[in-house]
Amino acid sequence: MGDKQTLADRVDALLINPDVITKIEVQDGFIISNSPNTQKSLQIYAYITNNESIITPDAARRGLEIYGEELTTEAKANPGKHPSIDTLEVIARGKPVHSHVVTPYSAKPIPEHIRKAMPEIAERFGTPIHIYDEDGIRQSCRQFNSAFSWVPGQFKNFFAVKACPNPFLMEIMLKEGFGADCSSAPELTLASEVGFAGQEMMFTSNDTPDSEFQYADKLGAIINLDDITHIEALERATGSLPELLCFRYNPGNKCEGNVIIGNPVEAKYGLTHEQIFEAYKIAKEKGVKIFGLHTMMASNERNPKTLTRQAEIMFNLAAELEDKVGVNIEFINLGGGVGTSYKPWDREVNIEEVGGMIATVYGNILSGVASPRIFTECGRAITGPHGWLLTGVRHVMEKHRDYVGVDATMADLMRPGMYGAYHHLTVLGKENAEHNMIVDVVGSLCENCDKFAVQRFLPEIQIGDLIAIHNAGAHGRAMCFNYNGKLRSGEVLVRSNGEIELIRRPETERDYFATLNFPGSGYAHLAK
Ligand SMILES: Cc1ncc(COP(=O)(O)O)c(C=O)c1O
Repeated sequence: MGDKQTLADRVDALLINPDVITKIEVQDGFIISNSPNTQKSLQIYAYITNNESIITPDAARRGLEIYGEELTTEAKANPGKHPSIDTLEVIARGKPVHSHVVTPYSAKPIPEHIRKAMPEIAERFGTPIHIYDEDGIRQSCRQFNSAFSWVPGQFKNFFAVKACPNPFLMEIMLKEGFGADCSSAPELTLASEVGFAGQEMMFTSNDTPDSEFQYADKLGAIINLDDITHIEALERATGSLPELLCFRYNPGNKCEGNVIIGNPVEAKYGLTHEQIFEAYKIAKEKGVKIFGLHTMMASNERNPKTLTRQAEIMFNLAAELEDKVGVNIEFINLGGGVGTSYKPWDREVNIEEVGGMIATVYGNILSGVASPRIFTECGRAITGPHGWLLTGVRHVMEKHRDYVGVDATMADLMRPGMYGAYHHLTVLGKENAEHNMIVDVVGSLCENCDKFAVQRFLPEIQIGDLIAIHNAGAHGRAMCFNYNGKLRSGEVLVRSNGEIELIRRPETERDYFATLNFPGSGYAHLAK
């Protein structure tokens, strides 16, 4: 009984939703179908299947650890009783095998109005093109506001502009009551042009030039310092410290970090535990009256317990700062990093649940001490799932592997090439066709990592098909680049009333040449 409970806990921690998995087909005909008895195996197999639809021997060993010693020993003594464990034992001692997690289209559907608009968007503006759903973005904003509606003195999410720096989308967020989290002068300009004013902007940067401190100060943005030496730097840049000041905390080994954001001990950001006490003391002595506290410990974090634990660290720190330095912390910014479900079987973050769990910890630690406001600065969780990169198929090729060549490249969406991130693909019109071809979906960049999918099971694809790359609404168009002379893609917003609006045109060669003034080259005339 005790062991069973432990297995349930271990499986739960994988954050997989088995309800959306029809079956898992493992090479050599081993299939795990979805039934009440197989749901734990489905979750374990979905978890150990990597982004290339492969279970490696190492991943199989990890899977066996999740099943636990009692079950694996029982399986060894009774061959055939636990086929899912027997199969992992074979993979663990052998070679990597293909594993196909089969989900219906309904597991990660494109909202009907967006799905319908896609062919028209491709026709009118060409591909590749980024597409956003106004309705979806508004819904995310409202879910955040509702999840933290318990916050005394009002909650605010400062949308991380770097995630999707388009003023049309930022305008929607301003109207939903969000602020703007800016990390550079151009982002501050973007935010203030949209209409964010003063403390509706938070300026969180690192290795900051004096000129940006001056600009943030002039706009009246909340300035968040990344280092203890920046107190002097800010004073030097602006002549005096502002009345309100915030510091970014790096928890060091109090928090584990992850592959994307790195281990806090190795991260360049923020003040250490000792430094943060010193910093508030200095700032107080220098006349700062109002204090904020900030951190950014997570990236794409979907575990409510981890997010709550991070909040708990910050609440304890705020209480300690009040106690030891005698400063009133007026707000705590918990940073961004709330995750989204890139894979259809990734369990969705329930932000209402997260807000509720954080409220409990807040009540336990801070009630009676002070009532700081709570801020976040999430980007991905707001726009990520409500954006798609639409791309057209140019070539279907058979080499050592089978390839589908599309007109988007890693220059339009860097995440898969940069860190092997999974982005789900829907081939329009073939949503319900059998996904029985194993292909790499590639762009035209002269880099072999320019792949949107590696060894992915997809339906049979023809030249001219349209493929929607999901969850491209954050850190997507924002990270576009011009390597190989690639022109950056445009952006379209599908409005709540169904209108299709081009909110950023695709680049032309003129844009590409605009910054060159090579003598006699004639490039300048191309840029006109
Ligand atoms: C300081 C800071 N805040 C917020 C964010 C936004 O993160 P996310 O889009 O994952 O919420 C980032 C992302 O890089 C960041 O560096």
